[in-house]
Amino acid sequence: MSPRVVVTRRLPPQAQATLEKLDAEIYQWQEDSAIPRDVLLKEIKGADGLLCLLTDKVDNELLGVAGDNLKVISTMSVGYDHVDVEAVKSKKVQLGYTPDVLTDATADLTALLTLAAARRIKESIDAVRNGEWREWRPEWLCGSQFTQKTLGVVGLGRIGEAVAHRLKAFGITNVLYSGRSEKPKAAEKLQAKFVSLDDLLKQSDYVVVCCALTKETKEMFNYAAFEKMKRTAVFVNSARGGIVQQDDLVRALEDKLIASAGLDVTTPEPLSPDSKLLQLPNCVVVPHIGSATMETRDEMGLMAVRNLEAGLFGKSLPTAVYQL
Ligand code: GLV
Ligand code: GLV
Repeated sequence: MSPRVVVTRRLPPQAQATLEKLDAEIYQWQEDSAIPRDVLLKEIKGADGLLCLLTDKVDNELLGVAGDNLKVISTMSVGYDHVDVEAVKSKKVQLGYTPDVLTDATADLTALLTLAAARRIKESIDAVRNGEWREWRPEWLCGSQFTQKTLGVVGLGRIGEAVAHRLKAFGITNVLYSGRSEKPKAAEKLQAKFVSLDDLLKQSDYVVVCCALTKETKEMFNYAAFEKMKRTAVFVNSARGGIVQQDDLVRALEDKLIASAGLDVTTPEPLSPDSKLLQLPNCVVVPHIGSATMETRDEMGLMAVRNLEAGLFGKSLPTAVYQL
Protein backbone atom coordinates (compact mmCIF):
# COMPACT_ATOMS: atom_id res chain seq x y z
CA MET A 1 0.00 0.00 0.00
CA SER A 2 1.38 3.45 -0.88
CA PRO A 3 1.99 5.84 1.97
CA ARG A 4 -0.52 8.63 2.49
CA VAL A 5 0.65 12.23 2.67
CA VAL A 6 -0.95 15.56 3.41
CA VAL A 7 0.33 18.61 1.53
CA THR A 8 -1.08 21.88 2.83
CA ARG A 9 -0.79 23.95 -0.36
CA ARG A 10 -0.14 23.76 -4.08
CA LEU A 11 3.57 24.04 -4.76
CA PRO A 12 5.51 26.02 -7.40
CA PRO A 13 5.58 24.27 -10.83
CA GLN A 14 8.69 22.04 -10.67
CA ALA A 15 8.05 21.09 -7.07
CA GLN A 16 4.40 20.29 -7.83
CA ALA A 17 5.40 18.08 -10.78
CA THR A 18 7.91 16.21 -8.59
CA LEU A 19 5.32 15.78 -5.86
CA GLU A 20 2.84 14.30 -8.31
CA LYS A 21 5.37 11.62 -9.31
CA LEU A 22 5.76 10.37 -5.74
CA ASP A 23 4.61 6.85 -5.07
CA ALA A 24 2.11 8.05 -2.51
CA GLU A 25 -1.53 8.79 -2.04
CA ILE A 26 -1.67 12.58 -1.80
CA TYR A 27 -4.22 14.80 -0.13
CA GLN A 28 -3.44 18.38 -1.15
CA TRP A 29 -5.20 21.61 -0.13
CA GLN A 30 -5.84 23.33 -3.47
CA GLU A 31 -6.82 26.84 -2.47
CA ASP A 32 -4.34 29.71 -2.31
CA SER A 33 -5.01 30.26 1.38
CA ALA A 34 -3.92 28.48 4.54
CA ILE A 35 -5.57 25.10 5.06
CA PRO A 36 -8.24 25.45 7.78
CA ARG A 37 -7.14 23.80 10.99
CA ASP A 38 -10.12 21.45 11.12
CA VAL A 39 -9.42 20.20 7.58
CA LEU A 40 -5.78 19.62 8.44
CA LEU A 41 -6.69 17.73 11.61
CA LYS A 42 -9.17 15.59 9.71
CA GLU A 43 -6.79 14.76 6.86
CA ILE A 44 -3.70 14.13 8.96
CA LYS A 45 -5.37 11.23 10.76
CA GLY A 46 -3.31 8.12 10.02
CA ALA A 47 -1.07 9.91 7.49
CA ASP A 48 2.55 8.85 6.89
CA GLY A 49 3.86 12.27 5.98
CA LEU A 50 3.08 15.98 6.10
CA LEU A 51 4.42 18.73 3.83
CA CYS A 52 3.51 22.05 5.42
CA LEU A 53 4.22 25.77 5.34
CA LEU A 54 5.14 28.24 8.06
CA THR A 55 1.46 29.14 8.36
CA ASP A 56 0.59 25.64 9.65
CA LYS A 57 1.04 25.03 13.35
CA VAL A 58 2.54 21.62 14.17
CA ASP A 59 1.94 20.88 17.82
CA ASN A 60 1.03 18.07 20.22
CA GLU A 61 -2.61 18.21 19.18
CA LEU A 62 -1.75 17.58 15.52
CA LEU A 63 0.76 14.86 16.38
CA GLY A 64 -1.80 13.14 18.60
CA VAL A 65 -4.44 13.15 15.86
CA ALA A 66 -1.93 11.99 13.24
CA GLY A 67 -1.10 8.82 15.15
CA ASP A 68 1.73 6.34 14.90
CA ASN A 69 2.03 6.09 11.12
CA LEU A 70 3.56 9.55 10.89
CA LYS A 71 7.19 9.30 9.79
CA VAL A 72 8.10 12.70 8.42
CA ILE A 73 7.17 16.35 8.56
CA SER A 74 8.67 18.52 5.85
CA THR A 75 8.23 22.28 6.11
CA MET A 76 8.76 24.45 3.05
CA SER A 77 10.60 27.11 5.05
CA VAL A 78 13.92 27.69 6.71
CA GLY A 79 12.27 28.84 9.93
CA TYR A 80 10.53 26.21 12.04
CA ASP A 81 9.19 28.17 15.01
CA HIS A 82 5.70 27.02 13.93
CA VAL A 83 6.77 23.45 14.78
CA ASP A 84 7.06 22.08 18.31
CA VAL A 85 10.43 20.50 17.56
CA GLU A 86 10.77 18.66 20.88
CA ALA A 87 7.33 17.10 20.50
CA VAL A 88 8.04 15.96 16.93
CA LYS A 89 11.44 14.57 17.88
CA SER A 90 10.11 12.68 20.87
CA LYS A 91 7.62 10.94 18.53
CA LYS A 92 10.61 9.81 16.42
CA VAL A 93 9.25 11.71 13.44
CA GLN A 94 11.84 13.16 11.05
CA LEU A 95 11.72 16.90 10.44
CA GLY A 96 12.92 18.55 7.23
CA TYR A 97 13.34 22.24 6.36
CA THR A 98 14.77 24.28 3.46
CA PRO A 99 18.01 26.06 4.37
CA ASP A 100 20.53 27.57 1.92
CA VAL A 101 18.31 27.84 -1.17
CA LEU A 102 16.64 30.97 0.15
CA THR A 103 19.72 32.68 1.57
CA ASP A 104 20.42 34.90 -1.45
CA ALA A 105 16.81 35.93 -2.04
CA THR A 106 16.26 36.74 1.63
CA ALA A 107 19.55 38.61 1.94
CA ASP A 108 18.69 40.65 -1.18
CA LEU A 109 15.36 41.66 0.31
CA THR A 110 16.94 42.45 3.68
CA ALA A 111 19.56 44.67 2.05
CA LEU A 112 16.79 46.31 0.03
CA LEU A 113 14.80 47.05 3.19
CA THR A 114 17.90 48.49 4.86
CA LEU A 115 18.50 50.77 1.89
CA ALA A 116 14.83 51.70 1.66
CA ALA A 117 14.62 52.61 5.34
CA ALA A 118 17.94 54.49 5.26
CA ARG A 119 16.94 56.50 2.19
CA ARG A 120 13.36 57.23 3.30
CA ILE A 121 11.80 55.55 0.30
CA LYS A 122 8.31 55.37 1.77
CA GLU A 123 8.18 59.12 2.42
CA SER A 124 9.72 59.76 -0.98
CA ILE A 125 7.15 57.73 -2.89
CA ASP A 126 4.34 59.29 -0.84
CA ALA A 127 5.71 62.78 -1.53
CA VAL A 128 5.67 62.23 -5.29
CA ARG A 129 2.15 60.82 -5.17
CA ASN A 130 0.81 63.56 -2.89
CA GLY A 131 2.12 66.49 -4.92
CA GLU A 132 4.61 67.50 -2.23
CA TRP A 133 7.47 67.41 -4.73
CA ARG A 134 7.91 71.10 -5.44
CA GLU A 135 11.57 71.41 -6.38
CA TRP A 136 14.99 70.00 -5.62
CA ARG A 137 15.87 71.07 -2.10
CA PRO A 138 19.25 70.61 -0.39
CA GLU A 139 17.99 68.93 2.75
CA TRP A 140 14.69 67.48 1.65
CA LEU A 141 14.25 63.74 2.33
CA CYS A 142 17.86 63.29 3.32
CA GLY A 143 18.60 59.90 4.81
CA SER A 144 21.82 58.22 5.81
CA GLN A 145 24.49 56.48 3.79
CA PHE A 146 26.61 53.41 4.32
CA THR A 147 30.12 54.67 3.73
CA GLN A 148 32.27 54.27 6.85
CA LYS A 149 29.32 53.06 8.92
CA THR A 150 28.81 50.21 11.36
CA LEU A 151 26.44 47.35 10.69
CA GLY A 152 25.19 45.19 13.56
CA VAL A 153 23.89 41.75 12.62
CA VAL A 154 21.83 39.97 15.26
CA GLY A 155 22.43 36.31 14.38
CA LEU A 156 25.29 35.77 11.96
CA GLY A 157 23.90 32.64 10.34
CA ARG A 158 23.72 31.99 6.61
CA ILE A 159 21.35 34.89 5.95
CA GLY A 160 23.09 37.31 8.34
CA GLU A 161 26.40 36.65 6.66
CA ALA A 162 24.94 37.18 3.18
CA VAL A 163 23.33 40.46 4.29
CA ALA A 164 26.61 41.76 5.72
CA HIS A 165 28.44 40.77 2.54
CA ARG A 166 25.94 42.77 0.46
CA LEU A 167 25.96 45.85 2.67
CA LYS A 168 29.76 45.92 2.73
CA ALA A 169 29.56 46.53 -1.00
CA PHE A 170 27.66 49.73 -0.16
CA GLY A 171 30.51 50.98 1.99
CA ILE A 172 29.96 49.53 5.46
CA THR A 173 33.41 49.32 7.04
CA ASN A 174 32.62 47.85 10.41
CA VAL A 175 30.55 44.70 11.03
CA LEU A 176 29.51 43.68 14.55
CA TYR A 177 27.45 40.62 15.39
CA SER A 178 25.78 39.10 18.41
CA GLY A 179 24.13 35.76 19.03
CA ARG A 180 24.28 32.52 20.93
CA SER A 181 27.73 31.61 19.70
CA GLU A 182 30.71 32.98 17.85
CA LYS A 183 30.91 32.27 14.12
CA PRO A 184 34.65 32.35 13.47
CA LYS A 185 34.52 31.39 9.77
CA ALA A 186 31.94 33.98 8.73
CA ALA A 187 33.49 36.54 11.07
CA GLU A 188 36.86 36.13 9.45
CA LYS A 189 35.48 36.57 5.94
CA LEU A 190 33.62 39.72 6.96
CA GLN A 191 36.18 40.99 9.47
CA ALA A 192 33.24 41.00 11.86
CA LYS A 193 33.52 41.33 15.62
CA PHE A 194 31.50 39.32 18.15
CA VAL A 195 30.01 41.65 20.77
CA SER A 196 27.26 41.64 23.38
CA LEU A 197 23.80 42.68 22.20
CA ASP A 198 24.15 45.84 24.30
CA ASP A 199 27.35 46.86 22.57
CA LEU A 200 25.89 46.05 19.19
CA LEU A 201 22.86 48.25 19.89
CA LYS A 202 24.98 51.13 21.15
CA GLN A 203 27.52 51.11 18.34
CA SER A 204 25.62 50.20 15.18
CA ASP A 205 24.23 52.59 12.57
CA TYR A 206 22.24 49.72 11.07
CA VAL A 207 20.79 46.92 13.20
CA VAL A 208 19.60 43.96 11.17
CA VAL A 209 17.80 41.00 12.76
CA CYS A 210 18.62 37.66 11.14
CA CYS A 211 18.18 35.20 14.01
CA ALA A 212 15.57 32.51 14.62
CA LEU A 213 12.58 33.11 16.89
CA THR A 214 13.18 31.13 20.08
CA LYS A 215 12.31 31.47 23.76
CA GLU A 216 15.51 33.51 24.13
CA THR A 217 14.90 35.90 21.23
CA LYS A 218 11.15 36.41 21.71
CA GLU A 219 10.49 40.16 22.05
CA MET A 220 14.16 40.88 22.66
CA PHE A 221 13.64 44.14 20.78
CA ASN A 222 11.59 46.09 23.31
CA TYR A 223 11.53 49.79 24.18
CA ALA A 224 14.62 49.44 26.39
CA ALA A 225 16.54 47.88 23.49
CA PHE A 226 15.54 50.67 21.09
CA GLU A 227 16.52 53.22 23.73
CA LYS A 228 20.08 51.89 23.65
CA MET A 229 20.36 52.45 19.90
CA LYS A 230 21.65 55.57 18.17
CA ARG A 231 18.97 58.18 17.45
CA THR A 232 20.08 57.96 13.81
CA ALA A 233 19.93 54.16 13.69
CA VAL A 234 18.00 52.12 11.15
CA PHE A 235 16.35 48.89 12.36
CA VAL A 236 15.55 46.02 10.00
CA ASN A 237 13.79 42.71 10.69
CA SER A 238 13.40 40.02 8.06
CA ALA A 239 13.44 37.10 10.51
CA ARG A 240 10.25 36.75 12.56
CA GLY A 241 7.84 39.36 13.88
CA GLY A 242 7.84 37.79 17.34
CA ILE A 243 11.45 38.87 17.96
CA VAL A 244 10.14 42.44 18.23
CA GLN A 245 7.77 43.87 20.84
CA GLN A 246 5.84 45.62 18.11
CA ASP A 247 4.01 48.23 20.21
CA ASP A 248 7.40 49.22 21.60
CA LEU A 249 8.77 49.57 18.08
CA VAL A 250 5.87 51.86 17.17
CA ARG A 251 6.58 54.00 20.26
CA ALA A 252 10.31 54.02 19.53
CA LEU A 253 9.64 55.30 16.00
CA GLU A 254 7.12 57.88 17.23
CA ASP A 255 9.46 59.05 19.98
CA LYS A 256 12.34 59.21 17.46
CA LEU A 257 14.49 56.84 19.50
CA ILE A 258 15.62 55.51 16.14
CA ALA A 259 15.46 57.04 12.66
CA SER A 260 13.56 54.41 10.74
CA ALA A 261 12.67 50.76 10.34
CA GLY A 262 12.25 48.21 7.57
CA LEU A 263 10.15 45.12 8.23
CA ASP A 264 9.41 42.00 6.22
CA VAL A 265 7.79 40.30 9.22
CA THR A 266 5.23 41.53 11.72
CA THR A 267 2.85 40.47 14.48
CA PRO A 268 0.37 39.32 13.44
CA GLU A 269 0.72 38.30 9.81
CA PRO A 270 -1.09 39.55 7.87
CA LEU A 271 -0.82 42.96 9.50
CA SER A 272 -4.12 44.81 9.65
CA PRO A 273 -4.26 47.69 7.14
CA ASP A 274 -5.02 50.03 10.06
CA SER A 275 -1.95 49.03 11.99
CA LYS A 276 -0.10 52.01 13.45
CA LEU A 277 3.07 50.76 11.81
CA LEU A 278 1.63 51.62 8.42
CA GLN A 279 0.82 55.17 9.41
CA LEU A 280 4.40 55.93 10.39
CA PRO A 281 6.29 57.73 7.64
CA ASN A 282 9.58 56.21 8.79
CA CYS A 283 8.61 52.55 8.64
CA VAL A 284 8.69 50.47 5.46
CA VAL A 285 6.68 47.26 5.66
CA VAL A 286 6.55 44.46 3.09
CA PRO A 287 4.48 41.27 3.44
CA HIS A 288 6.94 38.46 4.35
CA ILE A 289 8.46 38.22 0.87
CA GLY A 290 12.08 37.52 1.84
CA SER A 291 12.32 34.30 -0.15
CA ALA A 292 9.81 35.35 -2.80
CA THR A 293 11.60 34.81 -6.07
CA MET A 294 10.26 32.19 -8.46
CA GLU A 295 13.65 30.44 -8.54
CA THR A 296 13.92 30.23 -4.77
CA ARG A 297 10.34 29.16 -4.14
CA ASP A 298 10.70 26.36 -6.69
CA GLU A 299 13.93 25.22 -5.00
CA MET A 300 12.28 25.36 -1.59
CA GLY A 301 9.37 23.31 -2.86
CA LEU A 302 11.67 20.73 -4.44
CA MET A 303 13.71 20.44 -1.27
CA ALA A 304 10.54 20.00 0.76
CA VAL A 305 9.32 17.22 -1.58
CA ARG A 306 12.73 15.48 -1.42
CA ASN A 307 12.67 15.59 2.37
CA LEU A 308 9.13 14.22 2.38
CA GLU A 309 10.04 11.39 0.02
CA ALA A 310 13.16 10.40 1.95
CA GLY A 311 11.23 10.31 5.22
CA LEU A 312 8.38 8.25 3.77
CA PHE A 313 10.74 5.58 2.54
CA GLY A 314 12.83 5.35 5.70
CA LYS A 315 15.88 7.28 4.48
CA SER A 316 17.58 10.15 6.25
CA LEU A 317 16.45 13.54 4.98
CA PRO A 318 18.66 15.62 2.66
CA THR A 319 18.13 18.64 4.91
CA ALA A 320 17.00 17.67 8.40
CA VAL A 321 16.51 19.82 11.48
CA TYR A 322 17.96 16.95 13.57
CA GLN A 323 19.15 13.38 13.11
CA LEU A 324 17.14 10.73 14.92
C1 GLV B 1 10.53 32.21 5.68
O1 GLV B 1 10.31 33.04 6.52
C2 GLV B 1 11.06 30.91 5.99
O2 GLV B 1 11.24 30.59 7.18
O3 GLV B 1 11.33 30.16 5.04
C1 GLV C 1 21.28 65.87 -8.22
O1 GLV C 1 20.36 65.58 -8.95
C2 GLV C 1 22.50 66.49 -8.66
O2 GLV C 1 22.68 66.72 -9.86
O3 GLV C 1 23.33 66.75 -7.75
